[in-house]
Amino acid sequence: MSIVFVDPAMAKAKFLKTPFMLKHGLADHQLFTLPRLIELAKSMPRDSIEYNSGKVAVGVKPEDVPKIDMPAEAVIKSIETANAWMVIKRVERDPAYMALLEQFVREANEAAGRKSTDYSDLEGFIFVSSAKATTPFHVDMEENILIQIKGDKFVRTFDNDDRSLISEENLEYSPAGHRNRHYEEHFETRATLHSMKPGDAVHMPYTVPHWVSTGNSYSISMAMTWKTPDVVRMNKIRFMNGSLRDYGLPQRAPGAVPAWDAAKVVGHDVIRGVLAPLRKSERLRVLLRQMIYGKKANYYLETKKGM
Ligand SMILES: [Fe+2]
Repeated sequence: MSIVFVDPAMAKAKFLKTPFMLKHGLADHQLFTLPRLIELAKSMPRDSIEYNSGKVAVGVKPEDVPKIDMPAEAVIKSIETANAWMVIKRVERDPAYMALLEQFVREANEAAGRKSTDYSDLEGFIFVSSAKATTPFHVDMEENILIQIKGDKFVRTFDNDDRSLISEENLEYSPAGHRNRHYEEHFETRATLHSMKPGDAVHMPYTVPHWVSTGNSYSISMAMTWKTPDVVRMNKIRFMNGSLRDYGLPQRAPGAVPAWDAAKVVGHDVIRGVLAPLRKSERLRVLLRQMIYGKKANYYLETKKGM
């Protein structure tokens, strides 16, 4: 049975280029009930769950985001009253969620005329948010279809090529950096609003700036994400650029010096190869982030009491 419903002509015209809305058949799926999500949260390593107060401004500074001093399971249990925002990251590590993600991404890509060899790196992120919660202005470094399961969600997307909204420096990926990006009130006139109810979905191509809010009841959504070969390459270059900038060596944007871009891709792969075995342990991942990028790089492990 199909779970992605979209006009193929629209998908072919807009896929990976510009945001558009579509439909899905997962609103009543048992993998998204609160008891199943509590079970999922309990099974995930602590650094895969990020949560904080949902009562934040669109342009809140990363250091000003209020923390919640409660275990993740308790936040989900009390999501109707907790005023919380939570993401459970990389849920594809649970085989049931992976199966759903694989089917979803395959059907979406097929509708747009693309093959399974055109993408990789399937990852799923489940958002559980209280009513009137805000996900501040940010970009994501993968292709994404956000599906709405429960409650209303309002997604504002912005022009992906407007560097006055997000500079190239702010597109560089750095593990030391917070996801939230600088936002100014007047940006709002340039937003496109996508109003989602259960059964709706919105495609957000790579790096499309966006911010999100929930309606009058709690919300459950899932980001179905994947990467194209082009996205994988751009992320390697931007990761190297972000890391070099952290060490005081700012770089030109991808595409400015192709030979340097190629060298950065090779450099990235070498470093990744060395670190890959160490990253299997959560304690070593936290330690590595702290050693290389400083204590702030583990900001999402903080509670009200601090680290
Ligand atoms: Fe996002």
